[in-house]
Amino acid sequence: MEKSKSEHIMDKIISLCKRRGFIFPGSDIYGGLANSWDYGPLGVELKHNIKQMWWKRFVHQRDDMVGIDAALIMNPRVWEASGHLKEFSDPLVECKKCHERFRSDQLGGKSACLVCGGELTEPLQFNLMLKTFLGPAEEKANEVYFRPETAQGMFVNFKNVLDTMRPRLPFGIAQVGKAFRNEITPGNFIFRTREFEQMEIEYFIRPPVGDEWKEVFDGWKWEMTQWTADLGVNASHVHEVEIPDGERAHYSKRTIDFEYDFPFGRKELYGLAYRTDFDLKNHEEYSGQSLKYRDPDTNEEFWPHVIEPTWGVDRSVLVTLLEAYKEDTTEKGTRVYLKLPPKLAPYKAAVFPLLANKPDLVAKAREIYSALRKSFPVAWDDRGNVGKRYYAQDEIGTPWCITVDFQTLEDETVTIRDRDTGEQVRKPVAELDGYLGELIQ
Ligand code: GAP
Repeated sequence: MEKSKSEHIMDKIISLCKRRGFIFPGSDIYGGLANSWDYGPLGVELKHNIKQMWWKRFVHQRDDMVGIDAALIMNPRVWEASGHLKEFSDPLVECKKCHERFRSDQLGGKSACLVCGGELTEPLQFNLMLKTFLGPAEEKANEVYFRPETAQGMFVNFKNVLDTMRPRLPFGIAQVGKAFRNEITPGNFIFRTREFEQMEIEYFIRPPVGDEWKEVFDGWKWEMTQWTADLGVNASHVHEVEIPDGERAHYSKRTIDFEYDFPFGRKELYGLAYRTDFDLKNHEEYSGQSLKYRDPDTNEEFWPHVIEPTWGVDRSVLVTLLEAYKEDTTEKGTRVYLKLPPKLAPYKAAVFPLLANKPDLVAKAREIYSALRKSFPVAWDDRGNVGKRYYAQDEIGTPWCITVDFQTLEDETVTIRDRDTGEQVRKPVAELDGYLGELIQ
């Protein structure tokens, strides 16, 4: 079957990611491991910048938020209490002829195998948690699970955070970290994998009277739209979808999915849920420890309710790349560039000597490069001609290229070329740091 134009974009992005060191197939030299991906030197910078931007925005710049970093493997009782052992499953069907497996809720209304048209088995609930054993004996008593969401780390540490930080309601606990799910149908590059990263917030509020929680819920909805704008995502590509009764996760009284127009269809990017007091109540019951909050003014005790905004890190990387990928075609050929927000670009600038065989130019360019690196990640390139270097930096999203030429040696100025417009300005070397710093912010 011929690929659509939008599917080609995915191929182009996957190829650019591999070619330029953003994302490699996992375990590549062994022929890969299905649907696993490794972030390379530039990908790790992009991902790190996204996580940093999130942490700054939602933890450092707010006084109602603290962060944690919990273990990936938790006491298995956590998953009994949270309901994941019983409820965290997808309906699995298998083709009786070719044995391909599908999620029955993703068959788009079809009742036959999507590969060979064969008859499908009845759906079976398949638990998505990834099991392993702790310790040297593979026996039932040592069975544990990799966390399927970071959220439970926040509930399990709720008492620790209360006792040590004494926060007052409303307040949130944030965490960024890996989660694991034995997905039935992983795929579409880093969109759905079995090992991925989440950025989650459990935002605790007083038990609401009536619909009081809705105001906080709407506040987080607004925060989430601001966040996607910061990634450079065009608002018209994101759609809020109300998840109806019966389709929400077992803990949620209300869920909104933020769906994005991916090249492979409109799919979930992020989620926002009202988890009520479901988790704290259950953990209190299963652990035997009080997880109530005591109001310091009234001494009243209660389980706070929770609004949970959740973001996938890898899906954030994917939409950032999809939005940033641009092609400019002129009679000279096609220029590919990543129009990344400067804050997210792996390198903020690249420094070139106009000619690599002129020691004076190289020495001056090196001096500028070393000075700028103290403030930002900066690339160095002295291969080929300047035009080729521009194209190479455009492809990895470097916002500014600084060229040291003969005039620099005379008047201490350099040219700064803009990635998106190709325009050049001349600036004094002494002003570079401040000029770029301002542009990045
Ligand atoms: N604590 C709530 C929770 O985990 P979720 O909707 O199951 O909710 C949250 O997951 C986010 O994690 C999703 O919106 C998505 O961005 C990301 N995510 C979920 N499963 C994923 C997977 N298999 N691969 C990559 N990202 C995933």
